[in-house]
Amino acid sequence: MYRALLNGPDDFDGWREAARRFAMGGVEATGIDWQVEGDEASLLPFEAPPPPINGGAFSVPRAFIAVAESAILHHDRERFALLYALLVRVRDNPALMEDRADPLLRRVDMLAKAVRRDIHKMRAFVRFREVEDEGGARFVAWFEPEHHIVRANAGFFVRRFASMRWSILTPELCIHWDGEILTESAGATRSDAPDGDPVEDAWKRYYAAIFNPARLKQRAMLSEMPRKYWRNLPEAALIPDLVAGAQAREAAMIATSPKPPARPSGANRDASRPSNIAASWSALKEQAMACTRCPLYQDATQTVFGEGPLDAPLMLIGEQPGDQEDLAGRPFVGPAGQLLDRVLEEAEIDRGRLYVTNAVKHFKHERRGKRRIHQTPETPEIQACRWWLDQEIDLLRPRIIVALGVTAARALLSKAVTISRTRGAPIVLESGAEGWVTIHPSFLLRVPDEARKAQERARFVEELREIGVRAKAIS
Ligand code: URA
Repeated sequence: MYRALLNGPDDFDGWREAARRFAMGGVEATGIDWQVEGDEASLLPFEAPPPPINGGAFSVPRAFIAVAESAILHHDRERFALLYALLVRVRDNPALMEDRADPLLRRVDMLAKAVRRDIHKMRAFVRFREVEDEGGARFVAWFEPEHHIVRANAGFFVRRFASMRWSILTPELCIHWDGEILTESAGATRSDAPDGDPVEDAWKRYYAAIFNPARLKQRAMLSEMPRKYWRNLPEAALIPDLVAGAQAREAAMIATSPKPPARPSGANRDASRPSNIAASWSALKEQAMACTRCPLYQDATQTVFGEGPLDAPLMLIGEQPGDQEDLAGRPFVGPAGQLLDRVLEEAEIDRGRLYVTNAVKHFKHERRGKRRIHQTPETPEIQACRWWLDQEIDLLRPRIIVALGVTAARALLSKAVTISRTRGAPIVLESGAEGWVTIHPSFLLRVPDEARKAQERARFVEELREIGVRAKAIS
């Protein structure tokens, strides 16, 4: 029997190093005892690591590393051995990573998915309470993750709350940010974290305002916001009352629906939408098909209007149709659209539940021989086309609107913004919806460096995943 001793339950580098050594030495998966520093030591005798056979160097597909980095954070004690078994098989047959029916790959995939979900829950359900310490205001949160995700999630909180001083306490590990340095300390207990404070009152008011009784789906709510997180969520204290009053409030909403204000808040979104929304949307699309508000219609095949369910909680806005969209008459069906589909799938967002549209609805391009080369729309074109976008938003009242890239962000926010400075945090829009700005998928198609591309893609997936969770939670 061989032994691998890892520095911690999330020690991917340690696992990788040991796994590589054992695999090069031809060791079977059943021949290794994986231990984590601090665990009870095994009483079995161990052999010295084997020498590499025939040099032994090998490489595995990037997809394996991606899945292994997540799966290693699972609390399943078998994860190290399962990953090692998969590593050995993938080394001998790299195509295995494509075989979604393979039981071992499926099992490891399920571990990775559970971890990603947990990472997400932490991002969505951590709630800070403000306390005073010797350095001034500090925001402290208590969270109980299912898996060993705290260290892996730290970067997200550092980026999101870079200018705050904060601590996240968990049973296994606590992380602290002082505005410059991230530090760790041993696990804590719930009683180490402060209870409610005024920040919570504001949050509760916000939650009560966005809670929509007409869209109450208790089962979906429980699956997205499991009861175990409720005790740490200030707004969860409101849920029983809000649910109990939902029917009455829904009746009140229906009774008041014929007189919507011009720009209602998120809370009365459904009441504000016309009852004949499908007819209104079709009429709007028909008008847009004949649009001559700017010269772009002259060279385009057709207007490419938005598409998707009219009650979609989430709207995505792109820049403008490309060559293929112009011919097909549908948004995001070309290369950027196909990439977007893959990214959405990874982020566990069903495109069929999204309304997808563009800031500019005609294809702006320049002809070079037979090719039509994309040209970025300019401010007058974006402004002219806001006529349609504003009406789509007014009609559909999505809860969350995501601008993909600078043109979409400019159209949505009516000002020029930098993606890097604007992304990562929600913006309250005039419509009452929550706005997000992120990259356009075609940016990923242009990044030349593979490592950076993978990094940017992962960040994009995570952003969309978080937005998807929020959309489900509030719709
Ligand atoms: N890029 C966009 O912004 N929109 C599309 O519809 C296609 C590509």
